[in-house]
Amino acid sequence: MKLIKTKDYDEMSMKAAQIIINKVRQNESATLGFATGGTPIGTYDLLIKDFKQNCTSYEQINSINLDEYVGLHSTHPSSYRYFMHNQLFKHINISPENIYFPDGTAEDLQLECERFENVIQNLGGIDLQLLGVGQNGHIGFNEPGTPFHSVTHVVELTENTRKVNSRFFNHINEVPYKAITMGISSILKSKHILLLVSGEEKAEVMQRLLSEDVHDQLPVSVLKKHPHFTVICDEKALKGVKV
Ligand code: GLP
Repeated sequence: MKLIKTKDYDEMSMKAAQIIINKVRQNESATLGFATGGTPIGTYDLLIKDFKQNCTSYEQINSINLDEYVGLHSTHPSSYRYFMHNQLFKHINISPENIYFPDGTAEDLQLECERFENVIQNLGGIDLQLLGVGQNGHIGFNEPGTPFHSVTHVVELTENTRKVNSRFFNHINEVPYKAITMGISSILKSKHILLLVSGEEKAEVMQRLLSEDVHDQLPVSVLKKHPHFTVICDEKALKGVKV
């Protein structure tokens, strides 16, 4: 695990954007794994800025998103597909047919999970997977207790996750109870994993990541086993943490 400490959110976003831009420039048909949530928004803004200023091209890039709520159509403002479209995709020259998401509205969710897992494999795996972390250590929507061998699957969201994510909805009652997420083993197959951690509300999970052994009650801890795992973390998320 490589830990990059930054003074604040902006510097974290800058370093993350630089890693992604370098990857795209080295390999114009790379497969990038994207994440939602508040943490990567600054990074996406910088990718857009770079695209406008330096014309880094995403034309042949494939993008795979980690997860999606069950029941939300891509036109729903709180769906992850909608989020990614607005925060990044509509601002760069990525080809719509190269954008992959689990479909939370599929009639047969089990089949949809299998289809999505095949998509990842058929693209030859993910070259660079961007991740955030939940306050309880979840990655994607892999909540504590998820087996490390899990592939793409349907999950019941914990009440804590629904509450934390309700800020992206009008009311907590609108937050779905289920989601489809890439599994832990699907994530671990990525060639490089880039975890972004920012803010005081992540200090506890960061402390746990750095001090606890790898165990399934802290899903993010499994990333420490990955040979190419980078964490970019700001000072607030390291509050009280001895590194
Ligand atoms: C959601 C997403 C995760 C994300 C997490 C943290 O639960 N499914 O992929 O990492 O939120 O979000 P934030 O970056 O807003 O703290």
